[in-house]
Amino acid sequence: MKTLTILKPDDWHLHLREGLVLKNIIHFTSEYFGRAVIMPNTKTPITSIDSANFYKKSILESLPEGSSFEPLMTMYLTDDTDKEELINGFKNNVFFAAKLYPANATTNSSHGVKRIENLYKIFESMEDNGMPLLIHGEVTDSDVDVFDREEVFIDRELSPIVVRFPKLKIVLEHITTSYAVDFVQQNYIGATITPHHLHINRNAMFFGGLNSDFYCLPVAKRENNRLALIKAATSGKECFFLGTDSAPHLRKWKAFCGCAGIFNSPVAIESYLTVFEEENSLDNFEKFASLNGPNFYNLPPNKEKLKIVSRPNKIAEFIDVVEEKNIVGQIKPFHSGETLKWEIDGIIN
Ligand code: DOR
Ligand code: ZN
Repeated sequence: MKTLTILKPDDWHLHLREGLVLKNIIHFTSEYFGRAVIMPNTKTPITSIDSANFYKKSILESLPEGSSFEPLMTMYLTDDTDKEELINGFKNNVFFAAKLYPANATTNSSHGVKRIENLYKIFESMEDNGMPLLIHGEVTDSDVDVFDREEVFIDRELSPIVVRFPKLKIVLEHITTSYAVDFVQQNYIGATITPHHLHINRNAMFFGGLNSDFYCLPVAKRENNRLALIKAATSGKECFFLGTDSAPHLRKWKAFCGCAGIFNSPVAIESYLTVFEEENSLDNFEKFASLNGPNFYNLPPNKEKLKIVSRPNKIAEFIDVVEEKNIVGQIKPFHSGETLKWEIDGIIN
């Protein structure tokens, strides 16, 4: 049986939701990840210090007893973001970073930014203060083909930002194209890569009829892009790091409205490892999962270790959402019903 021991990873892009869903799913991340960057696109977005503190408290209260998991909070940028609030929150360790959603780019982004240039003064302060900017990199114009939205965003919005704010710490989140892979490397920014974008291409959304299980944003692209993402993630290069974009949606809503998001936190590590093994790159997994992110953000890596073994691991079809012992909903995890070759064995202190 093959065994892999790596420093405990972090998840640099995670949706935890609120209330019952939060309570039911957080353990999937808190058990095996040291820290996670928590996305602020809650129903009422996290746009102030108070709301971030309130949300963080609810996350900490939902953790299993004795957990040392650290949620890193982010502020949702809007057209009306108050610069003082943002920078004070950063200086006082409330906010770890700011998240830019172009208006209507994805789930709960209707309060997002309509004209990115209007935030340039804010970017200037973030650059001066070393505050990271995390970007959902898609334009939303209806005349831009949905499969081209990342590439057009890079040309139209990100390129000018990178030139104008050369010291701003930027992460292009959940990249999906070879164009983004090249841009990230050429411009010394960082990028997160999800497990699902390493496994599926756009065909997945059409398997057995229109299949919302594989619908996420940015949508998966053509196979050549998936191959470029695999090459980037498994390269060990410092600019690429783990960010699951795990985004739970209750089955009833997903099936009904096809909301964007793939819930991968119950299988994320095993899912990534499958790809690294196929590429003969297991040696680079620790860099991607546990070292490149802390290095980018100037943080120490976690101290504990994670032991993963190669043995058959049957993934549940559904994860139950339970309230007082009653099942009130279900969420379909990524790799639902599949048997993966890796399984987490536990934490070594
Ligand atoms: O697929 C996605 N789901 N992409 C996002 O950017 C947001 C996320 C969510 O919140 O459900
Ligand atoms: Zn996300």
